[in-house]
Amino acid sequence: MRTADLDTPAVLVDLDRVERNLRRAQDYADRHGIRLRPHIKTHKLVRFARRQLRLGAVGITCQKLGEAECMAGGGIDDILVTYDLVGPIKLRRLAALHERVRIAVVADGEAVVEGYATTFRDPGRPLEVLVECDTGAGRCGVQTPAEAVALARRIAAAPGLRFGGLMTFQPRARRRETDAWLAEARERLEAAGLPPATVSAGGTPDLLRAAEITTATEYRPGTYIYSDRMQVAWGHGSLEDCALTVLATVVSRPTATRAVLDAGSKVLAADTAPVPGHGHVLEYPEAVITALSEEHAVVDLAACERRPAVGDRVRVIPNHVCVVVNLADRVHLLRGDRVEETVPVDARGRVT
Ligand SMILES: Cc1ncc(COP(=O)(O)O)c(C=O)c1O
Repeated sequence: MRTADLDTPAVLVDLDRVERNLRRAQDYADRHGIRLRPHIKTHKLVRFARRQLRLGAVGITCQKLGEAECMAGGGIDDILVTYDLVGPIKLRRLAALHERVRIAVVADGEAVVEGYATTFRDPGRPLEVLVECDTGAGRCGVQTPAEAVALARRIAAAPGLRFGGLMTFQPRARRRETDAWLAEARERLEAAGLPPATVSAGGTPDLLRAAEITTATEYRPGTYIYSDRMQVAWGHGSLEDCALTVLATVVSRPTATRAVLDAGSKVLAADTAPVPGHGHVLEYPEAVITALSEEHAVVDLAACERRPAVGDRVRVIPNHVCVVVNLADRVHLLRGDRVEETVPVDARGRVT
């Protein structure tokens, strides 16, 4: 089967590019003595998680418990969930998972630790908890190194919990500031008798400079496996590294300068990037996808010398690939133009 045999819209994954992206990251991590713990929220496929582990990753990262359950079901047995797990339903599921695999979680406040501490009480099989630190990204996380120590103490004092270290999803291109924050936290923790076994940072934009965060022992890249327009705009590699594309058909040419594709926000996702438009059309690089509705992409061809006709097919590099994957029932795995396999996205929709 070739891509010409596929109906559209279709999500295509170039296996050679995937392999190259995974190896580049693992080689970098190996060269710099960093443990790699890839975030699977991008690909959501057990087979790629296994490949990442085989190449040298120490475990995987999941954002949601549902993703972790799916990966555990696929035989992955070392998982960090980088999300505050709150409420009795989540805690029951976490306890069930903890019985099956090595799982670590994060917390950024007393209330979250309280939930873990009341659920996990066995000192013989403690739950590992890392303190999430807001080193400038402004999402979750304790706000100061002093707060990190206070929360680490609370974790260490709970008989069924073990303090595992620090976790941050640091702001892009702020490696020095992130390192200063984490170094101060580590120093304070050491002084308190709680040296952090793991200091985990993450994010594809800084992946190939992760060693500059000298305090980090572990790194969690996610998007690097496929990359996308956003990552390229932020300076990570080039469009040649983008392994996932959306194959779409031109279904209308209402004006001389307008084409409409059969992939809208339900396929390409509406996330914006720091470059114009909703995706990069490989065959018409000057084209701009100016608008998406659910099932249509409107393309401005004004800057294109050549222009497509109704029925022509194009491939689009999405702005934000992780969301595209979560919208797709299945992906087509390619070697060149040959469809090697079509596979369901294992953890698709696992957002609980
Ligand atoms: C906690 C955490 N770690 C790691 C990552 C991976 O980041 P990226 O996709 O930029 O590699 C993310 C991305 O959302 C994240 O939220």
